[in-house]
Amino acid sequence: MTTAPSPDQVLRWPAGLELIGADLAIPLVSGEQVRGVDLDRAATTPCLEVVKVAVDELLPYYGAPSRGASFKAQVTTDLYERSRSAVARFVGARPSDVVCFVRNTTEACNLLAHLVDGVADVVCFELEHHANLLPWRRIGAEILPTPARPTELIEQVARATAAPRRRPLLVALTGVSNVTGELLPIDDIAQIIQGSGNARLFVDAAQLAPHRSLAMAARGIDYLALSGHKLYAPFGAGALVGARDWLEQRPPPLLGGGAAVLVTDEDVVFKDAPDRLEAGTPNVVGAIALGTACEALMTVGMETLERLEAELTAALDERLAGVPGLTRYTLWKGETDHVGVACFNLQRRHHGLVAAALSCEHGIGVRHGCFCAHLLVRDLLGINASESREVAARLHSGDAVDLPGAVRTSIGIGTTMPDLDRLQVALTELSHRGPRWRYGQRGGEFVPTPDPRPNPLSAA
Ligand SMILES: Cc1ncc(COP(=O)(O)O)c(C=O)c1O
Repeated sequence: MTTAPSPDQVLRWPAGLELIGADLAIPLVSGEQVRGVDLDRAATTPCLEVVKVAVDELLPYYGAPSRGASFKAQVTTDLYERSRSAVARFVGARPSDVVCFVRNTTEACNLLAHLVDGVADVVCFELEHHANLLPWRRIGAEILPTPARPTELIEQVARATAAPRRRPLLVALTGVSNVTGELLPIDDIAQIIQGSGNARLFVDAAQLAPHRSLAMAARGIDYLALSGHKLYAPFGAGALVGARDWLEQRPPPLLGGGAAVLVTDEDVVFKDAPDRLEAGTPNVVGAIALGTACEALMTVGMETLERLEAELTAALDERLAGVPGLTRYTLWKGETDHVGVACFNLQRRHHGLVAAALSCEHGIGVRHGCFCAHLLVRDLLGINASESREVAARLHSGDAVDLPGAVRTSIGIGTTMPDLDRLQVALTELSHRGPRWRYGQRGGEFVPTPDPRPNPLSAA
């Protein structure tokens, strides 16, 4: 069993990527305190120190963006627009692309789905996160089953683009599976789409952006969405980036101040995008945080990040392979590259119990459940569609149902080899002996009973 990293395993994160709370002490149910290991980066990421500094510097000058002649309004507007440019450079957008600030990837997908409803036919796959599935399903997209191989996915997209249709086609695809970490063949898909002449590609980059260079224009991605909180800027902003024409085809879904040039008794003359898509006072703090994180990542270089994360990903794979009784789930069993996200179950132990024991007894944070990708997790666990329909019927009739699922670990900036060693030790112990504490189930979660850990932020 690996307990300590060898000297050549020491991995150094570049300056400029320091994180708030990197050495946070986490209380265990035993009464001890340990340095927390955050292996839940696919869910959300800590804040970069430079992002916090930028937010702190902004706050005294915080004013109304784009709407005032005051000095504070001008400073705020300037920073807001600079952040827009930083996001554009980070994603590698074309000069003509529009960057719209939104809350997150979910909002970006819903916004684009609203704007292309009736404008384009849409194709996507069941393997998607609900954010990149349900908005498309609502507007009548063709939802294809999860392909057995990446080549099959490419063939299916080729067939969809070759099919005669009255409207252009939009293919909506994630860059990286949020469940398994596998990369989707975006470049092959982009090539097919570019060759078709009447199709466009939307990439949900929520999981791709924190790990790989996006190079949107160079790769032929037409639209792209990302979330700041998965990109080390957890202040509630994300972005939808892409070609202007489809963003201005329909009236925006959110109507309000800042989006219109003129309102008459019977008419609204909307501004151009992005303004028409950012009605209401925008989340300037979030946007500036996101822009700052993009700048920080560009300064270090996504290639550097990718290289460091590749070492950690290989180590994560190796550590998990060394845990007895661990079943790992993948889409395509090593046929594609993957980032440092891994999904598994441990023997027949409940995924929620494993996650609770990792947190409460070892100070290791992971995610468990179905990861908002129910159709994919259903398939990975070998549950058939009619079984899952039966569960849905029971839920509709008010039954409490213990949903199947898995455990997910995910790495990111600041993850270290010793973190992965601790994960392996903890999982191995859990596999051999099970949890050492007692847990009860409350609302689908396993909670320690008793739980002696005080909430450090609640008032005494
Ligand atoms: C691939 C993918 N798409 C979309 C989302 C939704 O992101 P958000 O919750 O930031 O809207 C997630 C979140 O986990 C994701 O992993």
